[in-house]
Order: sequence, then C-alpha cells, then structure tokens
Amino acid sequence: MPTFQPVRGMRDLLPDDAEMLTYVMSKARETAELYGYREVVTPVIEPYELLSAKSGEEIRQRMFTFKDMGDRTVALRPEFTSSIARLATTAFKNEPKPLRTLSIGSVYRYDEPQRGRYREFYQSDFEIIGTSNPEADSEIVLLTDRFMKSVGLSNYAFKLGHVGVIRGILNQANVDEKTQNAILQHMDKKEFNEAFELISSEECLTTLKGSLELKTEDVFKTAERIESHVEGYCKAAESAKELSDILKLVTEGGCPVKSVEPAFARGLEYYTGMIFEVYVPELDIALGGGGRYDKLIELFGGEPTPATGVAHGLDRIVLAMQTQKAVPAKNRRKRVAVVPVNETVKAEALRISEMLREAGIVVELEVMGRKIAKSLEDADKRKVDYAVIVGERELKQSSAMLKDLAKREQSIVAISELAKKIAG
Ligand code: HAM
Repeated sequence: MPTFQPVRGMRDLLPDDAEMLTYVMSKARETAELYGYREVVTPVIEPYELLSAKSGEEIRQRMFTFKDMGDRTVALRPEFTSSIARLATTAFKNEPKPLRTLSIGSVYRYDEPQRGRYREFYQSDFEIIGTSNPEADSEIVLLTDRFMKSVGLSNYAFKLGHVGVIRGILNQANVDEKTQNAILQHMDKKEFNEAFELISSEECLTTLKGSLELKTEDVFKTAERIESHVEGYCKAAESAKELSDILKLVTEGGCPVKSVEPAFARGLEYYTGMIFEVYVPELDIALGGGGRYDKLIELFGGEPTPATGVAHGLDRIVLAMQTQKAVPAKNRRKRVAVVPVNETVKAEALRISEMLREAGIVVELEVMGRKIAKSLEDADKRKVDYAVIVGERELKQSSAMLKDLAKREQSIVAISELAKKIAG
C-alpha cells in the first residue's frame, strides 16, 4: 500500500497547531460569554438548497456538494449563517428576541489552496437576530474588536461599508436583483469595468462611478461624502445615514476603523445593510467579515426578521498571531514523569500518578518499560519539570524519589507530600 496524504486543501493539525487553534477557539467562547451569545452546534452536512439559496455564485460553485444514499442533494457547510437562519424559522421561532448565537467549527469551500486559504477551515460565527437597530451592528463589530485584542493582536483595522448604498442606486435605475448580484460580485473582486458594463442607465453609471471617488483618509468625512453623493436616492441615502450612525457607535466603542469604502461588496449575496471586514497589515486576506442580512430568515419561510452577524477565520487569526508574535497566555501546569524502577512497583506508580493528577498535575507515566536512565533522558527531552522515581526501598517508608529536572536536584519525599512539593 502507498502511504496516504491528506486530500488536497485538507490539513492535519499536529499538537502545536491544534493547541493554537483550540486556544483561539477558547478566546472566541470567552468573547461570546461576555456578550451573552450562547453556543449552538449544527450539522456539517445541510440541504444544498438551504446553503445555496443566498450564498452567492462564488460560494455556490465552491461547495462540496453530493447526493447522499437517500438521493438527497446535500453539501458540506461553507459557513454557519444559513444554518442559524434555518434555526430561526424552526427551533428558535418563538424564542424571545434578540437571539444571540455562537457557532464554532469547520467549514468547507473548494478554494484554491494557498497560505491562509484552505478547503477545510475553522470559523467562530456570531449572529444577533431580531433587531434592525444600528446598536446590533455595532455590537458585532465591537465584539470582533474585543476578540482580536483577546488573542493578543495589537495591529489590526476594520473596513466598513453598506450594500444598501449601491443597491439603492441600482434599484432606482430598475436594475433587477440578479444583475445587482452579478454587479456586486464583480465589485467584491474589484472588477469595476465588468460591473459597469452591466449597467445601461447613464445616470446610475455616473453616480456609481462617482462613488468610487469619495474615499478619503478621514473615515467620518468619507461617510459624510457618501451621504451627500446619494442625496437624490431615497433608499441609498437612508443606508448612507445608517452607515454614519454605525461608524459613530463603533468608534465611540474604541474600535479602530481604518477605512469606509463606498464601493465595498462581499461575496455573500444575503447582505442587505452594513458590511465589514477586519485585517492585519501583514496579511492581505481578511481575518473576519460579516454584516446585516434582513431578508434571509423570511426567505427560509420565517417571519420577516432582521439579523446581523460575523464569522472569524480562526486559521487566519492564528497566522496573524504568529506574524505579530502574539503568544498565547498559558496557565502552565507542572509536568511530571512517574517512573517505576521495576515490574513489582508498577501498581504503586499508577496509584501515585492518579494522586498527582487529582491535584491538577500533568503526569506522563513510563509505559514503555524503559530503564530509569533512558526514561529520565526522555523526560528531559520532553521538558518535563520533575521525575518521580518509584522504588521498593523508598516505598517501604511511604516515600519516593523526587528529581527536579531543571535544577538537577533530587530528594526523598513522603508520598503524601509529593503534590505539595511539586506544585511549589
Ligand atoms: P466570509 O467572509 O465568507 O463570511 O468568511 C468569514 C471569514 O472566514 C473570512 O473573513 C476569512 O477569515 C475566513 N475564510 C474564508 N474563506 C477561507 C478559506 N478558504 N480559508 C481560510 N479562511 C477562510 C461568512 O462566512 C459569513 N457567514 C459571515 C457572516 C455571519 N455574515 C453574517 N453573519
């Protein structure tokens, strides 16, 4: 048989990488707790129709789609938002609003593998359902800010926009929804010429092209300029005002907004309002992104229910931590190797190991039957703090030999005193 490798785009996370990922996950859970978001666990496989309904052409084409043995067309989830919207129309239908949920886990997209872009990756997803107020949008941005800070990132910035501005302009020129979606997909990829080719109204084209010129270094000024640029477009003007309101709220909350983008669009099709992404200067890929989606729950057969949310790319956050040398704060427990000198004291060594674990000490018991010297050499390599050598002579006095591997000191210690001595 050949040796097997993971499928292209899939990765094994070995202990160091897995530890970083679970650390970031624990910080996402801490953030959720601070803001009152409760975790839900949804299936990795969902109906294709649910996942594809409003995900947009880009993600639709990249889904892992297949027929199950019951001939159902299903797919691996490319994100969490549609699963949460499904819950909002079923199990959470009668829950008091606002509803705040957290989801953490793997998601799947057939993206071209490269640094920070994988086919299986991990997200923490926060959704707040049941309000259209800008406070909810600003909460989503602010919790993302707190999450970034909590993992030790020091230099990151937010980009804000509002899809209602562009859609408002297009609506007024009677551009149908399908064409609007195609235009926004092009704008997401900065393919502005391709986007403009789909617009026939001269006035609309002039307004849209003009909006590309509105960006300045000063985010408040940009927001103001957007407001006056779309004055004649009722819905776009409302959206521009909402963007200004959210910008004020998040900056009041201390969030570093680096840019407000008039022509900002995101790949997903369900957005109806404020959208945002967070970046670090060292990587040119977003660490997280989200926005408002007020029509999705209704589309899935629920009551009209406004909602907003964000998903964080946990693998990319780990990459950003590594580039910014953000070291996880570790609550390091003492580590001990317990080594029985021979067969006859094995059971006693096991009992001592359990006693130490009971006291919160990490114990690696010698299970390879090695001689003491070999076992200690191995413990040294593994950077264990202490070795407890269990021998017959010491056992007779209810004691064991304790070796401090860093200081290279050893002493005979009563078994009942071991945990206290190790913990220091
Ligand atoms: P998204 O922008 O498609 O939004 O994904 C969120 C984050 O997932 C991205 O910012 C990025 O960090 C990470 N990500 C995306 N693709 C990859 C990949 N191939 N490899 C590694 N990381 C990746 C959503 O998923 C929406 N559901 C967010 C949302 C929630 N909107 C409202 N509620």
